[in-house]
Amino acid sequence: MSLFIKKPLDQVLAQAADNEKGLKRTLGAGNLVALGIGAIIGAGLFVRTAAAAGQAAGPAVTISFIIAAIGCAFAGLCYAEFASMIPIAGSAYAYSYVTMGELVAWIIGWALIMEYALGAATVSIAWSEYLNKLLDGGIPYEWSHSPFESITDAAGVAHRGIINAPALIILLLLTLLLIKGTQESAVVNGIIVFIKVAIVILFIVLGWQFIRPENHTPYLIPEGTPPVVDNAGKVLNSYEGVFKHGWGGVLGGAAIVFFAFIGFDAVSTAAQEAKNPKRDMPIGILGSLVVCTILYILFGHVLTGVAPWRDFVDPTKGSEASVAYAISQYMTGFGWLSTAVTVAILAGFSSVILVMLMGQSRIFYTMSNDGLIPKAFGDLHPKYKTPYKANWILFVFVGLFAAFVPGDVAGDLTSFGTLFAFVLVSLGVLILRKKEPNMARPFKTPAAPVVSVLGALICTGMIVAIDTRTLVVAFFWMLLGLVVYFAYSKKRSTLRNVPPANFLPTADDFERNRP
Ligand code: ALA
Repeated sequence: MSLFIKKPLDQVLAQAADNEKGLKRTLGAGNLVALGIGAIIGAGLFVRTAAAAGQAAGPAVTISFIIAAIGCAFAGLCYAEFASMIPIAGSAYAYSYVTMGELVAWIIGWALIMEYALGAATVSIAWSEYLNKLLDGGIPYEWSHSPFESITDAAGVAHRGIINAPALIILLLLTLLLIKGTQESAVVNGIIVFIKVAIVILFIVLGWQFIRPENHTPYLIPEGTPPVVDNAGKVLNSYEGVFKHGWGGVLGGAAIVFFAFIGFDAVSTAAQEAKNPKRDMPIGILGSLVVCTILYILFGHVLTGVAPWRDFVDPTKGSEASVAYAISQYMTGFGWLSTAVTVAILAGFSSVILVMLMGQSRIFYTMSNDGLIPKAFGDLHPKYKTPYKANWILFVFVGLFAAFVPGDVAGDLTSFGTLFAFVLVSLGVLILRKKEPNMARPFKTPAAPVVSVLGALICTGMIVAIDTRTLVVAFFWMLLGLVVYFAYSKKRSTLRNVPPANFLPTADDFERNRP
């Protein structure tokens, strides 16, 4: 049977009706924008902005934000079209199962593990950085860093990480919360969104007066910039590669800060709850992107104006908890702001981690129902009715990364996984327009051929600009995915095991055929 066997849309819609029974169309455009902002602002802004500036883009990280935002906006419009016509949990994985077939869906699902699972790991590592800042560096370096990280302090003493314990602990706490099924209420979510946005605006307004024009000159990292070295003379970052300086560096920076936009696709998963999807989905997706992009550009402008970008590469200076560092180091008299920002960031990060863990377990759940991964991933807790086994397996997987992998590596892998899914979703819209021209599309991507091709191209450009080491790891991850598919999933696929000819499955049939 073909590798590109497609899930019939009727079956998907039946499954959706079944799974999502009782969902009401209650969300207006404003709610959707808030939902997006809540999922978007996190470690990307408070950690990766400084990393992008220090490693590749310099003050021009502001332009990196614009490039990443354009890629996201185009891909986001394609997500919206899919989300309005295939309203089902599982995001890009589910859309591609219908449009491009099982193998592509599997590949996307496998890439999405990078987006959500490694995204959660990245944010928990960032959480650990800011906790350490709050405790004034009270957690020993060895217990708050991966074994791949080391530092030589000002006294010339070398330290190497053993395990990132705080990152592991926050993941454990949030996993327990998820298993108990504690839902963040709309009110709590609203409060966190408010606090996050307030902190960003406060930093922009108060930091503006501390901008030093010399920190913004030159605006792009010039060719031939000497490397940043640590106290022992080890090179922390060199500016030699194509994507490490000049305009190439701006693209390299876009690949790094792209992480800051991840989460806007969460808006697309609420398509079936939108009051008026045709009007509200694009407003929700583009509105949250526009608001965040404006905030991000101003934030990047102030951050690189307050502190010199080279500080953001050095672990004895501002490579960790960079925003709190910039405030306490360069904004005299604003020590309280540094503390307030840190506390708000810790709260904000927790909600992003929660959303990502939840997203991943939903994708596992859908893939398990499709028979592509073991049934255990879809088992529900007898009392709490949550996919608790998936949550525990996820904790072990995410925890391994959080505990033993540096934040930069996890973050770049997250960007890769997401960008890869974006490219396939962008192209998927065009494919489905051609193959199923008559299907109802409550929301249509405007100027689809241009938007989807440009979306795919810009996202591919950012993939190319990701660090080579990351691309190699990502390649092996994707290869492992193919091995798993051919050795395990293909044979067990639910879709391949239901009677095909003239069989129009109902929700009940689907239920019966669950592995
Ligand atoms: N966009 C989310 C963040 O920056 C993933 O934390």
